[in-house]
Amino acid sequence: MNRKLIAGNWKMNLNVKESVHLAKTVAAGVSNLKDPNADVLICPAFLSLEQCGKTLKDSPVMLGAQDVCANDEGAYTGEISSAMLLSAGCEFVIIGHSERRKYYCETNETVNLKVKKALERGLKPVMCVGETLQERQDEIFEAIVGEQITEGLKEVSEDQLNFVTIAYEPVWAIGTGVNATPKQASDMHLFIRRKLSQLCSSGTAEAVRILYGGSVNAKNAKEILAAKGIDGALVGGASLKAEDFLTIISAC
Ligand code: PGA
Repeated sequence: MNRKLIAGNWKMNLNVKESVHLAKTVAAGVSNLKDPNADVLICPAFLSLEQCGKTLKDSPVMLGAQDVCANDEGAYTGEISSAMLLSAGCEFVIIGHSERRKYYCETNETVNLKVKKALERGLKPVMCVGETLQERQDEIFEAIVGEQITEGLKEVSEDQLNFVTIAYEPVWAIGTGVNATPKQASDMHLFIRRKLSQLCSSGTAEAVRILYGGSVNAKNAKEILAAKGIDGALVGGASLKAEDFLTIISAC
């Protein structure tokens, strides 16, 4: 069983001051837990990363970004590179979140380019996958998620896979208050692990952390996190409230 990872995706919320305050509160709360049964990651907006990085220095809470450019540097207006994220103190980066796929036309191909670039530069990608409600109703969700895994991780070496985290986030569960049942999530996590074992040795596939995301909150976290094959959670809305996020961490 892998050590759990609880990651907070703050999305486009909080200004710099508010972000630093939340980062400080989460860091203090995690330190008070003494021996938390999980690694903890927060992913503020780009603008707040550097200040949050300073706040988290000497804290066990890790820092991640919500996206990264697939190129190294140059004329890419509005983009942020891996090197910039590393210099702000980031260790992780969320890639291919369904909101980016939906609103910014990201495809499995662009996700793959970003994953490869992040790995090449020393960032750990949290690659998001998940089906829409229509795809679940049409019973093609395994095919969709399977493709997101194999195409998103194309040309990623077995060594590099050790630094990859997968987040299974059914799109119909994100921000809707409707979460997948522990059985639905568990089944998909096992399916994803089987897909991973086609890309690498079973030992490496077992060690890749697979998080569940989609309406995880202080109330349902315990049940979800206890389900088979679930190595943690990617938390949106509930990660913006320190108390709720700390309750989720304690649920591990
Ligand atoms: P949610 O978002 O917890 O607000 O549903 C999860 C996510 O989008 O990562």
